[in-house]
Amino acid sequence: MAPAPTAGRAARGLALLTAFRDSLPAHSGNALRCTSCHLDNGTRARAMSWIGSTSRYPKFRSRPGYEESLARRVNECIARSLAGKMLPEDSPEMRDMLAYIATLDSPAKSVAVDSVKLKGDATRGAADYGATCARCHGAAGQGVPAVAPAVGGSDSYSIGAGMARQNTLATFLLHNMPFDGTDTLTAQRAADIAAYVLTLARQDHPGKERDWPRGDPPADVAYATTAARRLGKPLPPARALLPRRVSPDSVLP
Ligand code: HEC
Ligand code: HEC
Repeated sequence: MAPAPTAGRAARGLALLTAFRDSLPAHSGNALRCTSCHLDNGTRARAMSWIGSTSRYPKFRSRPGYEESLARRVNECIARSLAGKMLPEDSPEMRDMLAYIATLDSPAKSVAVDSVKLKGDATRGAADYGATCARCHGAAGQGVPAVAPAVGGSDSYSIGAGMARQNTLATFLLHNMPFDGTDTLTAQRAADIAAYVLTLARQDHPGKERDWPRGDPPADVAYATTAARRLGKPLPPARALLPRRVSPDSVLP
């Protein structure tokens, strides 16, 4: 049973979301924190905002293929985006994070985001990454301490993360990067840079082949799934993968 959203301490939850690795080292598998992607503590409209998330869940999602609670959704980001190990859903830490997210609840419809669906050219993207992103995220995407987190390598998000899908990453970039000059990229540049970033090796996500069990993975998913294979759908080429630091699956259903 998912805990009531108001059962935790929101201030403690925000501290965990913004300092995940230092607060929960046993559950962290990389150098990211939740707010590396959910910018402005989850309030930036076009950076996967948490405004209204409490009311949106539970909801059916096609990636797991079942109705997901908000606690489970948070655990998916822990296991995939943080390449970490899931928390028990009734743990104080989970309750505290859900309590913070609940403070942002709102009945308003979420802001429509212009989604980038263009094909990306990784060669063009590599040059643009060097010119536009490397000064903060490092020449090889490894991150620069106290400046910006990794976008590739073992400190970055895993292959199973939403951000490892080209359209999701390109859409995030178009609206939110470069951090100090947003709305300067074009959709094509965002797609090219995303295509390049996704050529960088990153941690594996064991069990990823069980995703989209109904055989309906979106076209930009970076890995082959069993259901798509069974249906004879085209499969993406294999990507360079790094070993996991921690196992994600403490509480898989
Ligand atoms: C590497 C980037 C990244 C990190 C780090 C990350 N997330 Fe996410 N998160 C995403 C993306 C991408 C989505 C999916 C948005 C979509 O559905 O298109 C998402 C979705 C969510 C959602 C669902 C929002 C909704 O209303 O549907 C929640 C809740 C969430 N994340 C919580 C967290 C928490 C808590 C953490 C830290 C434990 C975290 N995320 C870390 C990228 C990230
Ligand atoms: C001025 C420095 C700066 C520049 C330039 C910049 N970023 Fe960022 N980026 C950041 C910061 C700061 C964050 C959020 C970190 C936080 O709050 O934890 C971030 C977050 C991210 C994230 C989500 C977290 C992660 O590391 O996966 C991605 C992806 C990303 N940037 C990619 C890019 C790309 C690609 C470019 C080039 C188009 C770019 N950034 C340009 C500073 C920068």
